[in-house]
This record gives sequence, structure tokens and C-alpha cells, in this order.
Amino acid sequence: MPDSLHVAIIMDGNGRWAHQRNLPRKAGHSAGAQALLNTIEAAGARDIHMLTVYAFSSDNWNRPSKETHALMTLIRTRIRREMHRCQKENIRLSVIGRRDRLPNRLVETICEAEELTRDGALLHLRLAVDYSGRHALEHAARYMSGNGHGSFSHALGKAYHTRESASDVDLLIRTGGEKRLSDFLLWECAYAELYFTDCWWPDFGAQELDLALGEFRRRQRRFGCLPSQCT
Ligand code: FPP
Repeated sequence: MPDSLHVAIIMDGNGRWAHQRNLPRKAGHSAGAQALLNTIEAAGARDIHMLTVYAFSSDNWNRPSKETHALMTLIRTRIRREMHRCQKENIRLSVIGRRDRLPNRLVETICEAEELTRDGALLHLRLAVDYSGRHALEHAARYMSGNGHGSFSHALGKAYHTRESASDVDLLIRTGGEKRLSDFLLWECAYAELYFTDCWWPDFGAQELDLALGEFRRRQRRFGCLPSQCT
């Protein structure tokens, strides 16, 4: 069992949270952004070295443009608002996913935040934006066939603008009651423990994170070995 974990989260349920309160979906996403701040703070105080969250999947482009536009604006304004706090709190912020379809202003903000926080050592927060696990795998396979050296994990890291190789996920959490991967970190989740909760993302925070970590610590990870071989 690694001492320090890579936790990934599929943040689902913003729309239903808003609908239940007769609010527009946009309000659910804003509440979701606040839940993310609470979760980052909690993660920094626990044995988590990397937190990767699914902020916008490539398939989310299929939503009405009003919603995709609102999400792009929300992601940009929150990164801009939080990057200095991340720097102060020793958090490295980076973004994985395609950049060629993102608004220019968002790409500029991402580059600025990545540069500003590049030395953060407490926690590496990765936002997946216009992310598709399949697209990343295709991209890495093309990179490998063109270069022919290095590991596939390294190629996968290269595929989505990271300075390092793809990192295995220890625990994948999905909120909102659905039980699927939705094209998230397909390679990196090969041996991830999966944790599903009915909690809608805007209601997630330190307490829910602790429930997930508690369940994770009770699991025996075997990586193909016999139970007797596991420490
Ligand atoms: C899924 O809920 C959630 C999203 C597609 C967006 C997640 C984005 C955030 C939490 C904001 C992130 C902010 C920053 C700064 C990264 P859904 O809309 O599919 O909910 P539903 O299934 O209930 O409709």
C-alpha cells in the first residue's frame, strides 16, 4: 500500500443538485467549484500527493453551448482566482487534456497558473479539461510509433502536457450515484480501487473524502498476487 496516494475524482451530480433546488444548472457547477476547493484543502491535509479531477470531458462538448460556455468561464475564473492561493499553500496546479479546442483566454490562464505553481510540493492538483482517456491513448500510441523509445507511460504523459509520466491512480471516486468510468484515466486506473457514492458533488467535502479513504484502507490490493503474498 503506497504511503501517499493518487486520488482521482469524477465530480458528478451538479445538475441534479441544482434541479432539486430549482436553480439553473450553472448554479450547480458554481457550488461544485466550491466543493472542489473544500476537497483540495482536505486532500492537502491527508496522505494524498496527487489529486486529479474531471472538470470537463471531451464528450461534454455535446452539451448545449450555453452550458459549455458557462463551464469554460467558470474554470477560467476559478483558476485565475485561486492560483495565488495555490502558490502560497505549496500546491502545484496543472491541467491535462486537449488545449486546441479551449478558448484562448483559458489556455493563457492555464499556462500562467502552471508556471506560477510549478514548484508546489505539498499536493499536485490536476484538472482534466477537454479530457478523453481514449484520445490520450491514441495520441500516446502515435507518439510511440514516431519516436520508438521510452515507456508508454512517458508517451501518455507527453500526450497531455505533463512534465512527467502518467501516474497510476490508487483510488478513483465517483459521486452522483452512477457507476462508470466515462473515459477517465483509462490507463492510469488499471489497478485503481473504485469507490462510488450517491452524494452529489456539491455536497462532497472532507467528511465524504474520509469515508472513501477509510473504505480504501480496508481493501486488500493484490495486483494479481495471492492474498498470502500481500503485505
Ligand atoms: C458533472 O455534473 C459535472 C461537470 C460536467 C462539471 C464539473 C465541474 C465542476 C465541479 C467545476 C470545476 C471548477 C473548476 C475550477 C475546475 P453534471 O452536470 O453531469 O450533473 P448531473 O449528472 O446531475 O446533470
